[in-house]
Amino acid sequence: MSFRWGIAGTGAIARGFADALGRLPDAELVAVGSRRQPTADEFGERFGVPRARRHGSYEELAADDGVDLVYVATPTSHHHPHTLLFLQAGRGVLCEKPFALDAAQAAEMVATARAEGRFLMEAMWSRFLPAYVSIRELVAAGALGTVLAVDGDFGFRLPTTPGERLFDPAQGGGALLDLGVYPVSLASMLLGEPDQVSAVGQLGETGVDEHVAVLMGYRSGAVALAKASLRASLGCTGRISGTTGSIELPAFMHCPDELIVRGPAGTEHLHLPAALDSAGIGEADTGSVEPHDRAGGGLHHQIRHVHERLSAGHLDSDVMPLAESVSVMRTLDAVRAQIGLRYPTPELAFPRPAGENSPAPGDVQKEEATQP
Ligand SMILES: NC(=O)c1ccc[n+]([C@@H]2O[C@H](COP(=O)([O-])OP(=O)(O)OC[C@H]3O[C@@H](n4cnc5c(N)ncnc54)[C@H](OP(=O)(O)O)[C@@H]3O)[C@@H](O)[C@H]2O)c1
Repeated sequence: MSFRWGIAGTGAIARGFADALGRLPDAELVAVGSRRQPTADEFGERFGVPRARRHGSYEELAADDGVDLVYVATPTSHHHPHTLLFLQAGRGVLCEKPFALDAAQAAEMVATARAEGRFLMEAMWSRFLPAYVSIRELVAAGALGTVLAVDGDFGFRLPTTPGERLFDPAQGGGALLDLGVYPVSLASMLLGEPDQVSAVGQLGETGVDEHVAVLMGYRSGAVALAKASLRASLGCTGRISGTTGSIELPAFMHCPDELIVRGPAGTEHLHLPAALDSAGIGEADTGSVEPHDRAGGGLHHQIRHVHERLSAGHLDSDVMPLAESVSVMRTLDAVRAQIGLRYPTPELAFPRPAGENSPAPGDVQKEEATQP
């Protein structure tokens, strides 16, 4: 069986994803949706989408009955409305990270998928890479003892470019949601939702956070630290520390090609290229993606997972569960509340459903926004 994919958006990651689809024998790129017909045509021409299925609007893509699954590759501000659009039109959805602008949007996306009986998953591609699979296996096997600390940072020095996605509040820009979500999600994968969130950060001239640090605390005694920046080149590394060992994630921590595992028996370097897998897919780079779209070399892992889950009759993922996508957004909400980061969408709140262990803004240790 072949899965018929449509792609919503024609930007950088959409191109990487189209490349990744081309690596899988059971995936077909059958349609694309764009705000404008010329961009849909250009993208369709490049990736072999049939002429009639190059849609000049997202609504037309949603109405295309020949599409099983839509990959939402639009700016973060549009993940919520576009996911709802495609789910309500009867399509399954793989939605780029960060899943939404806030937890309330994320929860509505999940509720809509359930109501419509359609597949939904956050495209947190790191989770499906060989290195991240190994991290979960090593931790589950007790190779580190009890995990007590997770550290990660991700940042680049970029010129301020108003209107560009990363610097545009209207597109959900900023370091936290775009880059910080990776180390926060890594901490969530290993430690769950934090019981305490404490953040410091600085907003830049366009109104988005350009430099932010997040300290997460857990009742177990574990701690996690995530940093993200658009103003400074951070190490882009990660580290998981336990009572008997540690794992280092060299740059880039969201798609490492190796892990350095330290334990009582010594140090081991595990070679786990993000682009490769046991089937050898990815060995030959097609060269059709830009250097920054190195993601194209590893995005196929998450796509294969989607296919496997659907083939097994599931409408969600057990590796990137929907409840966890919502809980990561709750953590990011708590950070946004503390650093004063607001997006120009009036209904955005900082919710905490009753019984959840995430802190309400009043519970968290407040810090003044500060200079880096
Ligand atoms: N997994 C990863 O490694 C990875 C890497 C980069 C980005 N991302 C995520 O993917 C999403 C897209 O990032 P990107 O780097 O691909 O962005 P991008 O290059 O700016 O592309 C976004 C696309 O969204 C469409 N779009 C729809 N409404 C828009 C609007 N109002 N303003 C601007 N564009 C609009 C545009 O396509 P049309 O013109 O065709 O409508 C545009 O090309 C973000 O949420 C980001 O966090 C993930």
